[in-house]
Amino acid sequence: MPDDVSPGGDLVRRAFRSVSSMSKLRVQAFSISIDGYGAGPGQNLDNPMGVGGMALHQWVLGTKTFQAMHGDGGAGGEGGVDDDFAVRSFQNLGAWIMGRNMFGPIRGPWPDHDWQGWWGPNPPYHTPVFVLTHHPRPSFTMEGGTTFHFVTDGIQAALTRAREAAGGRDVRLGGGTATVRQYLREGLIDELHLAIAPVLLGAGEHLLAGLDLPKLGYTCTEHVASDKATHVVLTKGPVR
Ligand SMILES: NC(=O)c1ccc[n+]([C@@H]2O[C@H](COP(=O)([O-])OP(=O)(O)OC[C@H]3O[C@@H](n4cnc5c(N)ncnc54)[C@H](OP(=O)(O)O)[C@@H]3O)[C@@H](O)[C@H]2O)c1
Repeated sequence: MPDDVSPGGDLVRRAFRSVSSMSKLRVQAFSISIDGYGAGPGQNLDNPMGVGGMALHQWVLGTKTFQAMHGDGGAGGEGGVDDDFAVRSFQNLGAWIMGRNMFGPIRGPWPDHDWQGWWGPNPPYHTPVFVLTHHPRPSFTMEGGTTFHFVTDGIQAALTRAREAAGGRDVRLGGGTATVRQYLREGLIDELHLAIAPVLLGAGEHLLAGLDLPKLGYTCTEHVASDKATHVVLTKGPVR
């Protein structure tokens, strides 16, 4: 907070607090199948998205944004609707939250600390990342400014820590489905962008089953289709 003791200091402090409180919790570029699955079944080292789950992400793989991060530097990537959503998904982020299964395929107590995520030495986060888990583990920092912290005291604690770390910018809730569902159930997500891929998975991790989103205050505020996905944005308003 600015250390301002001038007569206008109160105003500055209030403005700072109001900017901080505008920090949103956003789910972005979360891909689901037509039948509502956010991941296929049987996640393992060869299938980070579960068996068949990579079909959900086809819309993003060819975008300029994805290619710039993981491929050819963006030269061969495509612009357009899909890329517009990919660009938005990284704007104004100060921290991330994710579930332990998004971080990796290891279940139960950590056998050691060798696993450092799917993403190699320079993960695409470049902010603090708060990983929800029941199994404590020390924080560690990777190239590019990504620090993974492991949070064992629940979704509220993770959100509080992420908001503090984000310094007024938004917090992105990366996934996976179990984690997004918990934050939805508590009405804590301000904005949820779903990319509905034109595929049926038939099994896996379902995103919205059993959640009464209108009752939780969510409405669809944007929808647009590309050749590869139908994008919808759900925004949280007052609870009905
Ligand atoms: N469709 C997309 O765009 C998208 C995006 C991201 C990820 N994914 C995919 O989604 C799948 C993972 O989703 P998921 O639903 O299986 O799991 P997840 O949400 O990533 O992680 C769930 C695990 O996180 C820990 N956890 C969650 N909430 C907790 C809490 N409140 N307190 C303590 N620990 C908590 C628990 O692990 P422990 O008990 O073992 O500690 C729990 O089993 C992966 O295949 C991933 O690739 C898809």
